[in-house]
Amino acid sequence: TPYKLLLLPGDGIGPEVMGQVEKVIGFLAQAGIATFETEHDLVGGSAIDAHGVPLTDAALARADAADAVLLGAVGGPKWADVAYEIRPEAGLLRLRKDLGLFANLRPAICYPALADASALKRELVEGLDIMIVRELTGGVYFGEPKEITTLPDGTKRAVDTQVYTTGEIERIAHVAFDLARKRSGRVASAEKHNVMKSGVLWKEVVTRVHAEYTDVALEHVLADNCAMQLVRRPKQYDVLVTDNLFGDVLSDVAAMLTGSLGMLPSASLGAVDAKGSRKALYEPVHGSAPDIAGRDFANPLAMIGSLAMALRYSFGLGEAANLLDGAITDALANGARTRDIAAEGTQALGTAGMGDAVVAALKAR
Ligand code: NAI
Ligand code: MG
Repeated sequence: TPYKLLLLPGDGIGPEVMGQVEKVIGFLAQAGIATFETEHDLVGGSAIDAHGVPLTDAALARADAADAVLLGAVGGPKWADVAYEIRPEAGLLRLRKDLGLFANLRPAICYPALADASALKRELVEGLDIMIVRELTGGVYFGEPKEITTLPDGTKRAVDTQVYTTGEIERIAHVAFDLARKRSGRVASAEKHNVMKSGVLWKEVVTRVHAEYTDVALEHVLADNCAMQLVRRPKQYDVLVTDNLFGDVLSDVAAMLTGSLGMLPSASLGAVDAKGSRKALYEPVHGSAPDIAGRDFANPLAMIGSLAMALRYSFGLGEAANLLDGAITDALANGARTRDIAAEGTQALGTAGMGDAVVAALKAR
């Protein structure tokens, strides 16, 4: 049976980069590598325009029924004034929440052809391949109480609360150790047990889960030191697991080691169910880029890389994923560049041209 894939192109450059993924899907089917049954729906501003909400119940049901969801990007100035509850981003948040996507995987890969575009020196980043595993549905972004109150003297007091339970830490730790087994067998866990109770529990639970993975090496690192190490000697890390807040910051640091925002894919995974499958959403890290939307400027590699992650993590098609990742590497090695990664004054490909370059590289493999 073909794999069921829901495509949610969204807004701005979302549909443009999703169009390139559809080219790749077409090639994979034609070459007999993998066949997908694809459906399309709306999310974000485009859904607001059509239905008055950023994600309809019907679209959510389709996402729930699919084996995986690919999302382009949501948002843009057109919807700056809609009510907070139905802003474009609320559609994405609802998807993450209702599908229970607690594990955010963000690879930071430095392609040899782009090593000079990194914020660091070539020798520090050449061959870099880190996987940041960020807890996505707990921690200080969601903990209660969360409020601003007015004190008797008229000044204010703001409260955010960091909350983690054993169960939340266990499941994200399992994701990290399982991933490490398929990679180089090393996990670093970042928290601040020196100043935070949630850090104490995080370290304790990760250590306990590690006992089930004697073949994987575990290192604990303080999150602030980790930020420093990522910039000093990033290749020391393989899988890096951390909470929602530290993961937000550390993954953005790691992103700048690799070049452009247009190159970064991501996966958000839910729990494994009784049948051994899990909900999953794959999306580029970048947003809808209204400044370049509609001009054939957008780099589609983050979106195409997100499909590669879907092949690997939702469909068990590791070889096809390697093939696609390899095609991206080849296209770059052959000199294919969109505007964001092209050297100044050189000719760049458009979005569609880069999609074609990846398909050509796939054919050549
Ligand atoms: P952005 O990621 O859309 O753009 C930041 C900068 O990077 C822009 O200069 C843009 O042109 C460039 N850029 C982004 N993706 C690119 C690509 N594939 N190729 C070439 N250049 C690329 O972030 P920004 O400008 O802060 O937000 C724009 C809109 O996107 C907002 O409405 C924001 O809320 C939304 N957004 C949505 C996200 C999502 O759907 N997951 C994530 C981040 C922002
Ligand atoms: Mg961030």
